[in-house]
Amino acid sequence: MFSKRSISFSVLSVLFSSFVSSSCVWNTLDGNPSKLVGHRGEKAFMPEHSLGSYHMAAFESADYIEPDVVVTKDQVLVVLHNEWLSDTTNVASIPKFADRKRSFTFVGNYTTINRTDYFVFDFTYAELQEINQVQVTTYPYRPQYFNNDFSIMSVETYFDKIANLTTIFNRTFGVIPELKSPELFNYLHPSANGRWFEDTLLSIMEKRGMFVNQPPARAPLTGEGDLVDGVLNIKPLNYQAPNYIRAAIQSFDPETCKYASSKTNIPIVWLDSATPEWYTPAGLDDIAKYSKIFSPWKDLMLAGPKAFFDISKVPYNQTKIDSMGGFLEPKEFVAACHKRGIELSPYTFYDSRQNNLLLCSTSNDTRLTWCPKNRKEELQYFFDIGSDYLFVENIFEAQMVRLAHDYKVRYGIDY
Ligand SMILES: *[C@@H]1O[C@H](CO)[C@@H](O)[C@H](O)[C@H]1NC(C)=O
Ligand SMILES: *[C@@H]1O[C@H](CO)[C@@H](O)[C@H](O)[C@H]1NC(C)=O
Ligand SMILES: *[C@@H]1O[C@H](CO)[C@@H](O)[C@H](O)[C@H]1NC(C)=O
Ligand SMILES: *[C@@H]1O[C@H](CO)[C@@H](O)[C@H](O)[C@H]1NC(C)=O
Ligand SMILES: *[C@@H]1O[C@H](CO)[C@@H](O)[C@H](O)[C@H]1NC(C)=O
Ligand SMILES: *[C@@H]1O[C@H](CO)[C@@H](O)[C@H](O)[C@H]1NC(C)=O
Repeated sequence: MFSKRSISFSVLSVLFSSFVSSSCVWNTLDGNPSKLVGHRGEKAFMPEHSLGSYHMAAFESADYIEPDVVVTKDQVLVVLHNEWLSDTTNVASIPKFADRKRSFTFVGNYTTINRTDYFVFDFTYAELQEINQVQVTTYPYRPQYFNNDFSIMSVETYFDKIANLTTIFNRTFGVIPELKSPELFNYLHPSANGRWFEDTLLSIMEKRGMFVNQPPARAPLTGEGDLVDGVLNIKPLNYQAPNYIRAAIQSFDPETCKYASSKTNIPIVWLDSATPEWYTPAGLDDIAKYSKIFSPWKDLMLAGPKAFFDISKVPYNQTKIDSMGGFLEPKEFVAACHKRGIELSPYTFYDSRQNNLLLCSTSNDTRLTWCPKNRKEELQYFFDIGSDYLFVENIFEAQMVRLAHDYKVRYGIDY
């Protein structure tokens, strides 16, 4: 599929350097190529959130490696996407834990859980070590042969692993933990200010030096082949190992984003699934007070907010939207974010064999003016509009499309 690009990259960069000199930059806020965030590590190949998944993401030169964070019964922060265990572990096959299966319902303002399962908050950290991680079975192309090799790790182990990967690969990987369901975990672990979960993660990150030492703004790439070198981990002669740990903190809970932003200079990633008010100038003004990175469901930047909300029948108050400046369509939206110093980080870009999960896949509505035919077209679009980060699965595929886009932007060469 990518045969044109199977030529050695270093040969290509030598070829380019002989005849190309260009100051063309990407449409991102800093003019640099979009950064790739390995979604739950590299879950296309490994059980998500396992040591193997994080190692594989580093091997594929992800810029950031993403953990989701939840909490055990004995207050240990662990990396796991769901509050339950049945789909990513072998817990159901362990007789001694059979009686842990139960129904649980929690309805908060931003967190809703209502299911029967094995819940992470019913297990101690020691008990979790007796449970093995497995690949979800939903996607038949995902290999199953790393099943039962890893167990759920603490967020401390995740940070240790990223530090080790930095040494192993001699490059910096960004950490970008997501606080999952803060309302639930703060309810389970009450504290005077009601922010036990946020405070605990922040304190771990502060102790690891992440508060004082965030990276400086970067000038756009100018030399030829920088991105290729970055992916292949070739360092320039004057390279100095960075003295910072690049970090960001994500949440779908706006109260958590606001609280965390008052406690740290680590950039806050304001995640959104579909909140109409935020896709207006006044909505972005508000977000800009708390967050440096806005992360929308990708369809909002493809269909555009108005078509997306109308076709998906998400209710909104038109008078209110108008009073906030009206909906910003994708290109205007990216420009409006960048004008406010907010970077854009749409999610999630799946393996090319997986459904796009876009409105385009389920609707022929004429308000959808353009639909990507495949993953490559989808990624090219998001690189082109100036996404600063992309949450990706199958990092290899995303790297290939990013390199091709880089040749186009910086050298005018269309692969
Ligand atoms: C939901 O929001 C209301 C009003 O701000 C607040 O009183 C309530 O505690 C919130 N619920 C949870 C579970 O945090
Ligand atoms: C939880 O799910 C059950 C069964 O699907 C349903 O009857 C119940 O209304 C749900 N509860 C909440 C709070 O959503
Ligand atoms: C990190 O490296 C140290 C030293 O080799 C090792 O003891 C430790 O187990 C490693 N931790 C992780 C999480 O890989
Ligand atoms: C890491 O990279 C730097 C810069 O290229 C180099 O000076 C150093 O020797 C490398 N370290 C290892 C262990 O390869
Ligand atoms: C819609 O928004 C306007 C302006 O904010 C407000 O006055 C009005 O009450 C809202 N209508 C409804 C039905 O909520
Ligand atoms: C879209 O239109 C095509 C051709 O008319 C039809 O086969 C398909 O079922 C439609 N899809 C949806 C989701 O309506």
